Amino acid sequence: MFPGDFLWGVATASYQIEGAYNEDGKGESIWDRFAHAPGKIKDGTTGDVACDHYHRYREDIALLKELGVNAYRFSVSWPRIFPCGKGEVNQKGLDFYDALVDELLKQGIKPLLTLYHWDLPQPLQFHGGWTNTDTVQAFLEYAMLLFKKLGDRVELWATFNEPWCISFLAHELGEHAPGIKDLRTALQVAHNVLVAHGKAVKAFRSENPSGKTGIVLNLYPVHPSSESEQDKEAAILSDCYRNRWFLDPVFKGEYPQELLSVYQKLYGDFAKDYESIQVACEKIDFLGVNYYSREVVSHDPKSILKSKTVKVEAKRTDMGWEIYPQGIQEILVRINREYGPIDLYVTENGAAFKDELKDGEIRDYERIDFLKEHFKNTYYAIQQGVPVKGYFVWSLMDNFEWAHGYSKRFGLFYVDYNDNLKRIPKESARWFKKFLNNEISLEE
Ligand code: FCB
Repeated sequence: MFPGDFLWGVATASYQIEGAYNEDGKGESIWDRFAHAPGKIKDGTTGDVACDHYHRYREDIALLKELGVNAYRFSVSWPRIFPCGKGEVNQKGLDFYDALVDELLKQGIKPLLTLYHWDLPQPLQFHGGWTNTDTVQAFLEYAMLLFKKLGDRVELWATFNEPWCISFLAHELGEHAPGIKDLRTALQVAHNVLVAHGKAVKAFRSENPSGKTGIVLNLYPVHPSSESEQDKEAAILSDCYRNRWFLDPVFKGEYPQELLSVYQKLYGDFAKDYESIQVACEKIDFLGVNYYSREVVSHDPKSILKSKTVKVEAKRTDMGWEIYPQGIQEILVRINREYGPIDLYVTENGAAFKDELKDGEIRDYERIDFLKEHFKNTYYAIQQGVPVKGYFVWSLMDNFEWAHGYSKRFGLFYVDYNDNLKRIPKESARWFKKFLNNEISLEE
């Protein structure tokens, strides 16, 4: 069904799987610091060891091979490369990714490299982190070093993973590192991240014209809970906040006016500092879409967005997220219509369920259903002419799920935290393998 050259892969992120948090010269990241602070992670755990992927990467690439995927999305830990965020390079850190990429290529697996999946070097945070434009400069140096080092072997590069989380989840809601709760700060962070993205894409293009760059956004259809004008208004503003705050700068070089004017009312001088977002609109080769769920909202006069999330009756994953497979189709079609044409990758999609290991097996049929329905809906988007070029399941194996620690399991492989981090294929891994091998169709 899917195009012959379609990339099928799985995705991971450095802090969630690598461990080895202070080995071989790696510096501290904001996630090391955050996870070590009491009360930040629900189960009190850290990513110190995680899945120990840093030491077991060959074994993990063998799992990819076993699945039969032809692509793998991973991220680089910036503080492994620059322990202080900038300045001196840690050769051992570079060597690790060098070896990882070589091993992937040797196994016939195409890498998609994400430069920033949230583990900012802590020394940069001491100077304001993403609120400081020096961080933008440091990011460019880091990005250029990796382009130079790996650009001959890695074709697909994503600058940032989920700027919405980097900005709002981490700086307005305070749920992720560095745990700040201030909207004004979050807006400044969003701006600097978007600027860093645009500049990195530009620099990359001059360095390596044959490579491909993009950005990964977490996108949600936002639906009004009723047909009332007020609920529809709420959905428009919520969509600006969730989706368009990043889509519009990247593709049009401007913030969405509907929400910009709300923030202008709040912070009078807002527009003045934010004029230069044109920089973010550097031509990219692809957009990565992370899709997990949708959002239903209704009017709320008390909130800045005049909107609040409504919890509808629905099947949910262990994260409490509504299972809404048609949403992936809706998002892909919309992006193509409003911002395309642009090559799209589903850079993350998957689900956490309460997986149990019984007699050596994990019978995660809910995950199989979840993936099947999302694959189908992606196919329906392709049938409508949307250039979706690949799909990465989140995740290869269970891992450190940020503020939830190890309590949420997203993997195709189960990680036995009680037995030396043993990787055990779940039923879904077997199903995915058969699907990739054309042994089963999505209708079965
Ligand atoms: C996304 C993150 C990823 C993972 C999934 C479940 O927001 O990019 O690292 O935690 O959610």
